Amino acid sequence: MRGKIRVAVFISGGGTNLQSLIDSSQAEGFPAEIAFVLSSNEDAYGLERARKHSIPTGVIRRKDFESSDEFSNAIMDALEAHRIDVICLAGYMKLIPAKVIRHFRDRILNIHPALLPKFGGKGMYGMRVHGAVIAAGETESGPTAHLVDEIYDHGDIVMQMRVPVLPGDTPEDLQKRVLEAEHKLYPEALRALAEKIISEEKRK
Ligand code: GRF
Repeated sequence: MRGKIRVAVFISGGGTNLQSLIDSSQAEGFPAEIAFVLSSNEDAYGLERARKHSIPTGVIRRKDFESSDEFSNAIMDALEAHRIDVICLAGYMKLIPAKVIRHFRDRILNIHPALLPKFGGKGMYGMRVHGAVIAAGETESGPTAHLVDEIYDHGDIVMQMRVPVLPGDTPEDLQKRVLEAEHKLYPEALRALAEKIISEEKRK
């Protein structure tokens, strides 16, 4: 029988979503384990979180490579070395090389802090998203977990969770509410994808 789905989490910052994935994956019966954490910079606090759980980490920066080919090969080599099945982007602020997307087609998840297809696309990240939601007069927002393809925030939606936008909310208020929902949603989306992969493999 195959073991758990081996997951690499890509981060650039604080990694609260990484933490929720680590915590959830420790529950009995969870079909995936966090096997590797890759950061786009060496100062990301998420690296600390990984180390505390003895999860192997790597820092791969575009600026250390002459070509994008060498950069994507370095990422692919690290993923292969850790026998990774699935990638979860969790606040990763760099573009994923096309080679990685092709190789992990339908096996890369991202979490976006709004209800896609609204409020997504290039430049829609962080507080800008919540500001735009409030400016548009939306009464609901919430995270979207989706598959990653070559277009920003475009791949198939796996799961969403709704939270209210309350009168007088600042972008910071809304971010906090959405982030709490992210921490519940992302592990569930990972569980669903991992179970799907495992059951597809059984049918082969
Ligand atoms: C989250 O808001 C997520 O939706 C977005 O990046 C942020 C990452 O936060 N993609 P954290 O590093 O997981 O705390």
